[in-house]
Amino acid sequence: MAIESLLPAANCLKSGRMTHASPELQSYYAARAPYYDEVYLKPERRSDIALLAAHLPARLAGRRVLEVACGTGFWTQFIAPQAESLVATDALAEPLEFARLRPGTENVRFLRADAYDLPQDLGPFDGAFAGLWFSHVPVGARAAFLRSLHSRLAPGARVVFLDNSAVQCRELPIVERDGEGNTYQLRALKDGTTHRVLKNFPTESELIRLVTPLSRASGFRLLENFWLLEYELAERPD
Ligand SMILES: C[S@@+](CC[C@H](N)C(=O)[O-])C[C@H]1O[C@@H](n2cnc3c(N)ncnc32)[C@H](O)[C@@H]1O
Repeated sequence: MAIESLLPAANCLKSGRMTHASPELQSYYAARAPYYDEVYLKPERRSDIALLAAHLPARLAGRRVLEVACGTGFWTQFIAPQAESLVATDALAEPLEFARLRPGTENVRFLRADAYDLPQDLGPFDGAFAGLWFSHVPVGARAAFLRSLHSRLAPGARVVFLDNSAVQCRELPIVERDGEGNTYQLRALKDGTTHRVLKNFPTESELIRLVTPLSRASGFRLLENFWLLEYELAERPD
């Protein structure tokens, strides 16, 4: 079955504004899709992953979940069996082709959609998840991404973001910082190309400050290799 695409034409939002989506980031992840999952085989991540494979589904159990930037569906496979329903989106066809082959995701609706312009007709949701995505959102685009996500969620919806802790910088050091506070890594692919990838490592207080005006409860947890942010959307955001 072909993967549905709900991407706006020519990367333009319906309003006519350009999306914050990055062509450089997307070509990097398109090329990396066939071996992306190697990142989950690192022995030092094993115990965090075991914890998360139980924790994430429990936090989203029984909810109608929207997943953003699902990639090859590594976390989707754990969340799907306990969610009431799951719509998993990514901007790219390449990782989605792997995601839809995951056992346990037969009831997941996979489709292409831009995180900055999530379409209205995706369905009603009271849960949301994004793994290893928020770190790729430029500082100046965070509000736009959250607006896009929250506009698809019911009041009181639970949102969970998972991302890399700064431990990742031991292997992939920050090589550049721009005027907005975004940081960049150089990433080599197996085809011999090297890519400058925007990768931010927000602090706990930065994250909590960002979501506090929009949420009624929030919590942050730092594991060895990952951080977790969870919040529930306010009934009526300030
Ligand atoms: C680091 S991967 C995360 C994949 C998966 N969530 C995980 O945790 O393994 C980042 C993903 O973001 C996707 N992506 C890049 N730009 C996007 C955009 N504007 N909207 C939605 N997805 C995007 C890429 O295709 C890639 O699959």
